[in-house]
Amino acid sequence: METKRISLELKEDVAYVGFGYNCDKSMTTLDEETITELGNILDELHKNKSLKGVVFWSHKDRCFLAGADINLIASMKTESDGAYGAEAGQTLFNKIEDLKCPTVAAVHGVCLGGGLELSLACTNIIASDDKGTMMGLPEVKLGLIPGFGGTYRLPRKVGLPKSLDLILTGKMLKAKKAKRLGLVAGVYPKERLKRMALFHFKVDEKKGGLKESLEHMASDNFFAKKIIFQKARESVLKKTKGFYQAPLKILDVMEAGIMKGRSGYLSSESQAFGELCVSEQSKNLQHIFFMTEKAKKYSGVTGSNDLPKFKKGAALGAGTMGGGIAWLMASNGMAPIMKDLTTEALELGFKQSSSNFMGQVKRKKMTYDAFERQQRSIQGQLGFEGFQRVDLVIEAIVENMNIKKSVFSELEEHVRDDAVITSNTSSLSVQEMSTALSKPERFAGLHFFNPVHMMPLVEIITHDKVAPETVEALYNWCIKAKKTPVVVKDGPGFLVNRILMPFMNEAGFLLEEGVPMKDIEDACLNFGMPMGPCRLLDEVGIDVGEKVAKIIHDGLGDRVKSSPFSSKLVEKNFFGKKNGKGFYIYDKRGKVEGPNEEVMAMLPKTKKKMDETEIQLRIFLPMINEAATVLADGIVNSAADIDLGLIFGIGFPPFRGGLLKYADSEGLDRLIGAMEERAKSVDESRYTPCEYLLKLAADKKKFYDI
Ligand SMILES: NC(=O)c1ccc[n+]([C@@H]2O[C@H](COP(=O)([O-])OP(=O)(O)OC[C@H]3O[C@@H](n4cnc5c(N)ncnc54)[C@H](O)[C@@H]3O)[C@@H](O)[C@H]2O)c1
Repeated sequence: METKRISLELKEDVAYVGFGYNCDKSMTTLDEETITELGNILDELHKNKSLKGVVFWSHKDRCFLAGADINLIASMKTESDGAYGAEAGQTLFNKIEDLKCPTVAAVHGVCLGGGLELSLACTNIIASDDKGTMMGLPEVKLGLIPGFGGTYRLPRKVGLPKSLDLILTGKMLKAKKAKRLGLVAGVYPKERLKRMALFHFKVDEKKGGLKESLEHMASDNFFAKKIIFQKARESVLKKTKGFYQAPLKILDVMEAGIMKGRSGYLSSESQAFGELCVSEQSKNLQHIFFMTEKAKKYSGVTGSNDLPKFKKGAALGAGTMGGGIAWLMASNGMAPIMKDLTTEALELGFKQSSSNFMGQVKRKKMTYDAFERQQRSIQGQLGFEGFQRVDLVIEAIVENMNIKKSVFSELEEHVRDDAVITSNTSSLSVQEMSTALSKPERFAGLHFFNPVHMMPLVEIITHDKVAPETVEALYNWCIKAKKTPVVVKDGPGFLVNRILMPFMNEAGFLLEEGVPMKDIEDACLNFGMPMGPCRLLDEVGIDVGEKVAKIIHDGLGDRVKSSPFSSKLVEKNFFGKKNGKGFYIYDKRGKVEGPNEEVMAMLPKTKKKMDETEIQLRIFLPMINEAATVLADGIVNSAADIDLGLIFGIGFPPFRGGLLKYADSEGLDRLIGAMEERAKSVDESRYTPCEYLLKLAADKKKFYDI
């Protein structure tokens, strides 16, 4: 039979079904054509009575099957569309399970979602020992339930507790771990995988160890199952604070389906898939997936094709940020130089990079040998020796314009003309800084967030004279370093800090009005923010926050003025977590002990009871307004840039799809009305909607229409 997307080969009564055939994409997905073609192939195989077995494999080097096509899921308009789509996949995989001969999935490369669900329908799964071979059911991360029978078959393969862990977290497993879990029957070098499949045509009779059989026995018991589900539900609620529907729905389907047969179970799974895939939450998470995918490729202005290549790096400054940056460079094989003014400062930088690496060793993401090699690849020094070999410099010294300018002038004498120079400034003008360089075209801002190893966002800040090649090369480097870059035009607070400012400012004003700190913090946490504004200010440093607030106020005017309350705290040396006292008191390990009663005593004695929604409006309306001015000023080009920046930069709740996606869903007219009311009742300068927002609403447009 003629096939296009999937190859079919018959050899000695064994059928070899190969995915990713005639396909120029690096990742093969289960799109509509692949699903239809696989259905036809399986119908043929069902007719062949002499078949001894079927082996599913992939022609691709990095991908077995990356799951269902997300564009297909995103195109679902109704619950029944979704349920129908899931049923189609289930029917297909039932056909695999119902073949009269044994079947083996020989997995090499990425095997996710529908790819793993297909494999689970086979008699056995074997996998290559390649580091790119990864298996998992990540649907929950898109607000979905695995809909092609995954929640039915995985517990039957690995037992209930392990399958709940995999399905509810969406985590990925490498081949050896998958074997330990009982998901995979054998792990082999990729060259031998297809041949070894023939040895796995029978059900593996060997049971796991005693622990495994006890676990299986326990989960077969009705009461044990009840407890397992109860514990899983508690753990989900603790982790997600109840914001996410999908994990709870998954638990409902799996628990209710325990006594059901295949068709009854699968019909409730497809029903749940239909409900979830059109929910606003899943659409928001799908939106983030598409934004993130798009951000993986540079889409800005391109210059010549001859982009600077960053093989060797240097970090200027070995402080909080410099140590983290040196670690990032070392992790990416750039054997960086880390330069500071004193050996004591260098020691701090080494401590920082070493603790980042050790974290990886503890999580078994790195061997101790690799840690030693990479840590030793960082060269600490006080002078400029060896800077001629450096391709990328990231400056992370004190936040002072004059010092930075003089350091850049000196630096230029020590680096090659084609080296790229960047500043990690969090608030100073990159435009002004560029005037200190004789070759400003190779200079840009590269703003990492603290801590460097945890925070994915990097703002690439441009200025009038920067060359497109510099921006593009920095963008590509960030992607390679597994960061999420956003290209931002220079301006006070750049992108994230500018929009974050009202979040912290408004908290100060509310405190001064007598709203209790706990109510403010809770209102933000209940909105889905990872921490409240007072706790965040303590993390950033109240003194640092105050300096940045001043720069942003000076640059943008009274719209972003801050309450005088934080200055009062700075005067009393309450800097936040770094000196153990801020809005909260911290123990030696940096854990919150409780509110700082001295600060509480500085607040009005008469407390104001404010409705939680009102607190949220007071805080998030000025943020939306500020985001609109960011677009008006051309700081970034799209609403998606802002949402990506806030999700990856400050942990804006992903289930809301981003600040502007949230604004669009609330309705701009309503939000403008709410701002205008508060412009009258609270403060005109902070709440008057900006021209850009008014025009958008007048044109009946949303942020995502532009
Ligand atoms: N800490 C943060 O949360 C954060 C976040 C993003 C950006 N930044 C920015 O990163 C930069 C560094 O901040 P940090 O918090 O790491 O500061 P830090 O005070 O921890 O470290 C600065 C280091 O620079 C060194 N230094 C000063 N002058 C130098 C020079 N001429 N040559 C070499 N080293 C010199 C100091 O000795 C010190 O070790 C600042 O521009 C800051 O605005 C900080």
